[in-house]
Amino acid sequence: MRYYKNFINGKWVDAKTDKTFESRNPANWDEVIGIFPDSSKEDLELAVESAKRGFEIWSKIPAPKRGEILRKAGEILLKRKKEIAQLMSKEIGKTITEAEGDVQEAIDTAFYSSGEGRRLFSYITPSELPNKFALTFRRPIGIVGVITAWNFPIAVPSWKIFPALLAGNSIIFKPAPDGSAVGSIFAEVLQEAGLPDGVFNIVFGYEVGKFIVEHPEIKVIAFTGGTETGKIIYQIASKFLKKVSLELGGKNPQIVMPSANLDLAVDGVLWGAFGTSGQRCTSTSRLILHEKIYNDFMEKLRKRLPELILGDPLDPKTTMGPIINPQSLEKIKKYVEIGINEGANLTYGGNQLKDGYYSKGWWFEPTIFENVNTNMKIFQDEIFGPVLSVIKVKSFEEAIEVANNSRYGLSSSIYTNDINEAMKAIELLQAGITYVNAPTIGAESHLPFGGVKETGNGYREGGWTVFDIFTEWKTVYIDFSGRLQKAQIDTWKE
Ligand code: UN1
Repeated sequence: MRYYKNFINGKWVDAKTDKTFESRNPANWDEVIGIFPDSSKEDLELAVESAKRGFEIWSKIPAPKRGEILRKAGEILLKRKKEIAQLMSKEIGKTITEAEGDVQEAIDTAFYSSGEGRRLFSYITPSELPNKFALTFRRPIGIVGVITAWNFPIAVPSWKIFPALLAGNSIIFKPAPDGSAVGSIFAEVLQEAGLPDGVFNIVFGYEVGKFIVEHPEIKVIAFTGGTETGKIIYQIASKFLKKVSLELGGKNPQIVMPSANLDLAVDGVLWGAFGTSGQRCTSTSRLILHEKIYNDFMEKLRKRLPELILGDPLDPKTTMGPIINPQSLEKIKKYVEIGINEGANLTYGGNQLKDGYYSKGWWFEPTIFENVNTNMKIFQDEIFGPVLSVIKVKSFEEAIEVANNSRYGLSSSIYTNDINEAMKAIELLQAGITYVNAPTIGAESHLPFGGVKETGNGYREGGWTVFDIFTEWKTVYIDFSGRLQKAQIDTWKE
């Protein structure tokens, strides 16, 4: 157990408040990983002052040089990969194999962002007038507030922090309370990589997230979390005309068509629905099966479900870890009850595990509901746990209609060996991401990541699209004709 302090202006500093909170191991609730300050407005004020100074220095450093520091950060993460993954396994219960993947995603993002230092897309375009240049470039914006969820405590913050830094902004980071110890690693890594003091700051806590959104000097808010919180953030931030990038909920469908390789599609469900114990915004939570393969598919799936091993997240054989905290477990239990009351058929799992090893933490079995229809809450709501709703359809058209019957639109998947079906699905599925013959999880850091409908507000993290969040365009006209040329009025003459 460790006592943590906020990280402000390159130093770990005591908070101005005595209020604290704990982060505990969800597989062993008695184990406290860290005690953190529940930061106040005054603490945030210190971070803002620091980030203002940091911005002055950092924004003037050429982007390729900023990129060199990010490359070093990536190298440090690579060196520390195993140790960080172990801390993550303990703090949030992610299996060790997945935790290493989480760190790897941040390493990839660091290297990708570093490379963008020598590119940072902009363009030069012809002017309508002679002897005149028209060009654009990207400018840093200022202080960015980064507020993230616990489930990818290194990867998801890295999608925001590294590109925002590369673009020349300074940062105030509020990690998810349940993943605060892992979140603190960013301060260590960036400082060791040579980032100037003040450019990156951490304030831990709960309510301080609201203060960040309300602070007039924090110009950009990058948030990953639930849709309801996202909407509140958007409303508050709009009063200050802040730029807000939201990565919110998902209810991601996997469609399986008759031509599909069924074994492969079962692999997809096991990984997509039950990996990370269903606690990803990209997790598969709706399985849409064509009636022709329904029975075959479910039989194959039932045979393979015992392969899922719930246990010590640090054991490489474990495939499913615990549920993050008692509140999340209660929510999952409530939804299982709702599903039963709605008349869905609970055909697998449905129970909390409490005996023996499981008595110390928060565990829930992989759970499957059949006979689900689109009006049911278990079909529509994001549960964020290992609960899969299965629905039978009669045609490709119905499969798409059912898949699109959702207020969310993050990820989606279709298993088919019919090329026309695959192409049509790519076009018709209302989601930011569509996988063909692969599960709904597994986004890569150099491609746009985000969703439509209530999953977000139109921005994409990942790839170079992320720089649209963290930069402001500057347009430049350079007239070297030596005379006044009036755009739209003077016409070009030989
Ligand atoms: C999330 O759950 O918030 O595509 C992100 C994936 C991961 C990222 C998930 N690379 O499942």
